[in-house]
Amino acid sequence: MKPLWWQNGVVYQIYPRSFKDTTGNGIGDLAGVIEKMDYLSDTLGIDAIWFSPINPSPMKDFGYDVADYCDVDPMFGDLATFDRLLAEAHKRGLKVLIDWVPNHSSDEHPWFLESRSSRDNPKRDWYIWRDPKPDGTPPNNWGSFFGGPAWTFDEKTGQYYMHQFVPGQPELNWRNPELKKAMLDGLRFWLDRGIDGFRMDVIGLIIKDEDLRDNPPNPDAPANLPANDLFSRLHQVYNMDQDDVHPVMREIRQVLDEYNERVAIGELWGPMDRWVKYYGTTGDELHLPFNFRLMHQPWSASAMRASVEEMEGALPPFAWPNYVLGNHDGTRLATRFGGQSQARVAAMMLLTLRGTPTVYYGEELGMENGVIPPEKIQDPQGINLGAERTRDVCRTPMQWDATEHAGFSNVEPWLPVSADYRTRNVAAMLNDPTSILTLYRRLFALRKATPALNVGSYATVPTPAADCFVYERTDGPDRYLIALNFSGEAQTLSLFGNGTCLLSTQVDRTGEVDLQALSLRPHEGVIVKL
Ligand code: GLC
Repeated sequence: MKPLWWQNGVVYQIYPRSFKDTTGNGIGDLAGVIEKMDYLSDTLGIDAIWFSPINPSPMKDFGYDVADYCDVDPMFGDLATFDRLLAEAHKRGLKVLIDWVPNHSSDEHPWFLESRSSRDNPKRDWYIWRDPKPDGTPPNNWGSFFGGPAWTFDEKTGQYYMHQFVPGQPELNWRNPELKKAMLDGLRFWLDRGIDGFRMDVIGLIIKDEDLRDNPPNPDAPANLPANDLFSRLHQVYNMDQDDVHPVMREIRQVLDEYNERVAIGELWGPMDRWVKYYGTTGDELHLPFNFRLMHQPWSASAMRASVEEMEGALPPFAWPNYVLGNHDGTRLATRFGGQSQARVAAMMLLTLRGTPTVYYGEELGMENGVIPPEKIQDPQGINLGAERTRDVCRTPMQWDATEHAGFSNVEPWLPVSADYRTRNVAAMLNDPTSILTLYRRLFALRKATPALNVGSYATVPTPAADCFVYERTDGPDRYLIALNFSGEAQTLSLFGNGTCLLSTQVDRTGEVDLQALSLRPHEGVIVKL
């Protein structure tokens, strides 16, 4: 069967604030993405772009607080610019996905302004309002992901509203049929414009326990949590992944199925047994529940291998796998995994596993965590829970060239450009035959040209070599061996036969190899055609 585009393609995530500024306000915009469209389609050769939210927003959580689901924030452009972007992308065969934030809106959304205006407003029940406990405290013990309780008291109407993120992100009540209809119509708005799918923000949170029971304490919570981190002190039992989310997931999917070949990707964090249910019992929910498991593994071949095998083992036959290593909420791979060579091995792993890979902007340059002076912290998570928790580190401006502000903007950007931009930038790395950018381009091209590497089967190849992750990807007679050395020492693998090395993570060797003594340099990965 011919694979669908979201099965054999690569998704590239753009954090629009940080990609390319064309208006001179230090913040990226849609016109900037249009300007860089050839970079995406020709230089990189990715298949789909996904934008973090571009809707009108007071930006209390940088767009994840939506004030209008059917428009574009003027900071980023307008609907006409969006349509132009879509046309430019489609002209080049690129798919476009947008972020959809269904769990909460902004407190400045007109729906919430109405809802909070009085207890008997028709939209009161579009959000989650509850009376205080008799002693005046919040209705239950839930904490916000960003610190403090998940409830804010509204003086005027004498009730609390729920928000599991900042107070400016009140939670929508998906048990209300009118709200549900309004949200599903919001999906149709973008589908009618021609977008190819959605990445659905914290989708597992949209239905909560009907009785909003207290979450049980988490006995494993670290002892040194900030005092206001109520969230991490609890087990997330009643606030996410409820059984009755699944009928709603099917309704969401049915909207996409009214259109041709649109994809539903969802952000989900729970354990495997809860996560896998989001594929639906017959593949009738999400196409791709994001799989973040590799993000949480240490730099260890056995840990990565175990995670891949666990996922391969848990998937029902109809389910298509996917892998994410980095995004706008995490850390840069080179920083997390301890160096540039490790980031290269991680790239080779991500782009040769069985499943749709999502690559975060700037990873193709090996961008490292930004250094954000305390007074420049923007992210509410960093502001509320401490500088070490700020997600700003992975949101610094894209490094295009060595000119001032890295070619991102002609004024000082909203977050500082990383100090290494003079050498770590697209212009400098493009013509360097061994740069990480060249590696990514080769990996994208090889994956695209090689069915075994995109849709072929996966099998672990056991090896006694220390800290090496080795696997085979196969499509009929075409077989490829991927050997990744996670250790800082050279390793020699003893396998069978001969092969042709197509690519090394150092991009400096190809040609015949004797698999009985396949030597890998420290932190080197290779792809060998068998
Ligand atoms: C998701 C987003 C994150 C955002 C949060 C609230 O986790 O990825 O950036 O802060 O949801 O919408």
